[in-house]
Amino acid sequence: MNCSGKDQLVLIKQSDGILTLMFNRIEKKNALNYEMYEALADAIKSADMDDAVRVIFLSGGESCFTSGNDLGDFFGKEPDLASSPIFRFLYALAGAHKPVVAAVGGLAVGVGVTMLLHCDLVYASAGARFSMPFVSLGLCPEAGSTLLLPRMVGHQRASELLLLGETFGADTAHEIGIVNSVFPDGELLASAMVMARQLAAQPQTAVRMTKSLLKRGYAESLKNTMMGEGRCFLERLHSPEAMEALLAFREHRKPDFTKTG
Ligand code: COA
Repeated sequence: MNCSGKDQLVLIKQSDGILTLMFNRIEKKNALNYEMYEALADAIKSADMDDAVRVIFLSGGESCFTSGNDLGDFFGKEPDLASSPIFRFLYALAGAHKPVVAAVGGLAVGVGVTMLLHCDLVYASAGARFSMPFVSLGLCPEAGSTLLLPRMVGHQRASELLLLGETFGADTAHEIGIVNSVFPDGELLASAMVMARQLAAQPQTAVRMTKSLLKRGYAESLKNTMMGEGRCFLERLHSPEAMEALLAFREHRKPDFTKTG
């Protein structure tokens, strides 16, 4: 068993064939900063080469999955697609050979939702709340979500979720098919881990081949979509709309888009 220190922003634990990656920045609602993306990308890539890992288990604990990208990181830094830790993480997750189980308790915002579209089994607690407020922040969706979400939930529902960015609950997430099952609050991690163990007990070559077959039909267009979205996202970061939204978050006020077009 390998367990990282308690002060790490991502707690990494390996036990009985399950690699658990736990966001550990609760005072910032598990907002994902560059250091966390790097740790996650490295762990997923290593897991793919480690025969001892049969399943990757992703969570932020019972009370909060993640509030999405650290909005502070959008100020002043100019990542390019090739070197951005965010994209490294997203490509690692999208290309993971090992099955990924996600357990979503509390909040899942932005990339906290779009990363789920790449996972293989997703469980949520009854009180989990989801939102993808990219447009409300003057940004655009990422992580291949403009391809994956309409494919999973249909164009109109995807448009509603992405264009309006409204928050929805675990029951809706289950109904539209981005969550497999909803467990009572406080029972999420134990229940999702039961499912992860069930998956880890399956014959692994067959599991990996089936995962790969399930994704093969859209793998190429997913790569292209992620590239295209990434370029638009970086462009949007410099827009007056995004600047206003990010400043408003920092200043604890509502954004005013009347002057930004
Ligand atoms: N990036 C950076 N900091 C974040 C964050 C994020 N995505 N989400 C939360 N935080 C920080 C807050 O600034 C606050 O920091 P502070 O204590 O230093 O002031 C702390 O985490 C707690 O958040 P708070 O807003 O007080 O909690 P809340 O329960 O009232 O609201 C959210 C939680 C997630 C609804 C709210 O923080 C929020 O809207 N965050 C931004 C989410 C977002 O837009 N993500 C990116 C999508 S692309």
